[in-house]
Amino acid sequence: MQTYEVDLNTCGPMILDALLKIKNEIDPSLTFRRSCREGICGSCSMNIGGVNTLACISKIDTNLNKATKIYPLPHMYVIKDLVPDMNNFYEQYRSIQPWLQRDDGLKPGDQQYLQSVDDRKKLDGLYECILCACCSTSCPSYWWNGDKYLGPAVLMQAYRWIIDSRDEMSEERLKRLRDPFSVYRCHTIMNCTKHA
Ligand code: SF4
Ligand code: FES
Repeated sequence: MQTYEVDLNTCGPMILDALLKIKNEIDPSLTFRRSCREGICGSCSMNIGGVNTLACISKIDTNLNKATKIYPLPHMYVIKDLVPDMNNFYEQYRSIQPWLQRDDGLKPGDQQYLQSVDDRKKLDGLYECILCACCSTSCPSYWWNGDKYLGPAVLMQAYRWIIDSRDEMSEERLKRLRDPFSVYRCHTIMNCTKHA
C-alpha cells in the first residue's frame, strides 16, 4: 500500500482525475486501466472506499480527515497495482457465446431479423452492461468458485441471449449451463446489486 497526497485545488473532481494527477506528477509507475472517462468502457473498475465502482464516475471524497482507500477489484489475480487479470472473466463471457444464433442456415448480414416492440423491451436493463466486472467481483460465491461459477455479469449476458426473440438456440444455451456450478453457485447473496 502506498499513500499519495493530492492538491484537490488543482485536480478534477473524480477519482480517475486524482489517479491521473498522481501518475503525471508524482509517481509515473502507478498503473491502472482507463479509456473513456465517462462510464462507458468499463475499464477503470476498482474498489474505492470499500465499493466496487468506476473511478471515472466516482467523486473524490472531500473530507480531508481520512484517506480514500483504493484497491484492485477484489479476489482477482493482480497484474500490477490496480490492474486485475480479466482473462478468466472474458473466457467465461466467451463460453456463453454472446452473439445471435439461428438455425435457418443464414449468415449474419443475409437478412434483417425483425423484433416486436415488446420483445425488444425485454432486453432493456440487460444489453447496457459494459462488462466492468464490478458485480461479479463483489460476489463471495464468485470469490470462492470463480473458475467454475459464471458470476452475475456473465449470467446476465447468458440470459440476454436466451430471451432474445431473434435467437433460436435457447435450448442449447440452457443445456450448456446445466451443471452444479455455472448457475447454481448463486446463493442469492445479492452483493452484485450493491456496488455503485
Ligand atoms: S452488470 Fe456487472 S459487469 Fe455489467 S455493467 Fe453492471 S456491474 Fe458492470
Ligand atoms: S474510463 Fe471508461 S468507464 Fe471509466
